[in-house]
Amino acid sequence: MILGEALQSVTQTLRRARIADASVEAEVLLGHVLGMSKTGLYTEPERSLTSAESERLRNLVRRRLDREPTAYILGHCEFYGIDFYIDSRALIPRPETELLVEEAVDLGQRISHQGVQTAIADVGTGCGAVAISLALALPQARIYATDISPSALQVAEVNCCRHGVSGRVELLQGNLLEPLPQAVDVIVANLPYVKDCEFVDLSPEIREYEPTLALAGGRDGLDKIREMFDQMGGKWGAHLGERPAYLLLEIGQGQGEIVTSLVNDHFWWASIELISDLGGIERVVKVGLRPQSQF
Ligand SMILES: C[S@@+](CC[C@H](N)C(=O)[O-])C[C@H]1O[C@@H](n2cnc3c(N)ncnc32)[C@H](O)[C@@H]1O
Repeated sequence: MILGEALQSVTQTLRRARIADASVEAEVLLGHVLGMSKTGLYTEPERSLTSAESERLRNLVRRRLDREPTAYILGHCEFYGIDFYIDSRALIPRPETELLVEEAVDLGQRISHQGVQTAIADVGTGCGAVAISLALALPQARIYATDISPSALQVAEVNCCRHGVSGRVELLQGNLLEPLPQAVDVIVANLPYVKDCEFVDLSPEIREYEPTLALAGGRDGLDKIREMFDQMGGKWGAHLGERPAYLLLEIGQGQGEIVTSLVNDHFWWASIELISDLGGIERVVKVGLRPQSQF
């Protein structure tokens, strides 16, 4: 088979299976098998596929028809302009989470301008995309990345090595803030926030392949966020130190109001800002926590 025909045939197969963006997906799978860029695919339409290449392509298309996410099939994904290794042990980082990173970078830069080394915790780090993006953007910062899942942390470790930040991103296994060895200036967290009742509506790519531990947030989606707030009011709160601290939380669509009232219940003295993504959806809650001693 030649390349042009293969591209057409894979596109049609994926389209018949009602896979969205079938032509883009076909380009990605074929490009992966042949080690070619998108432009390359269209400049050499007469190139023949070897039988090994055809077999490999068939195998990848079969996996995609079984609804395995493309990022898991390829073994990598892009986040914040950086290439990350990924497999089914960790959630595939989503483009909307880049807003969380942008806000954290902004805070990190402002704090470091005040002449102190910024300490940041990425709580629920998964494949490490947020923590590593922060480490690369804020070379002076000390980053802690926690996750309850030892297998997700193995993926994060691969990514830390790949990006040369193993010395500055400390991976810690445990429940939310519990493993943190010191007070931090910024807590960044994209914790699971899918409501129990929303699970059935998730696409098979998400429901059947991504770790449930990374998605399930309980009845109203906020179990983990509540638990972290409780921790912050307890032992971790005592570690706030003398500097103002910030919390940046990613939330699901429509959760802004309830998370705001949760913050008010736990931290009456906090400042709260809801930050929307480009689609106008409230995506990040920014909480300013001056130590209570400053009142
Ligand atoms: C929505 S994923 C986010 C992953 C990654 N930070 C990202 O933005 O792509 C949530 C992560 O929180 C982790 N997690 C769930 N419960 C946790 C807990 N109690 N303590 C620490 N991490 C937890 C999951 O294993 C998962 O990696």
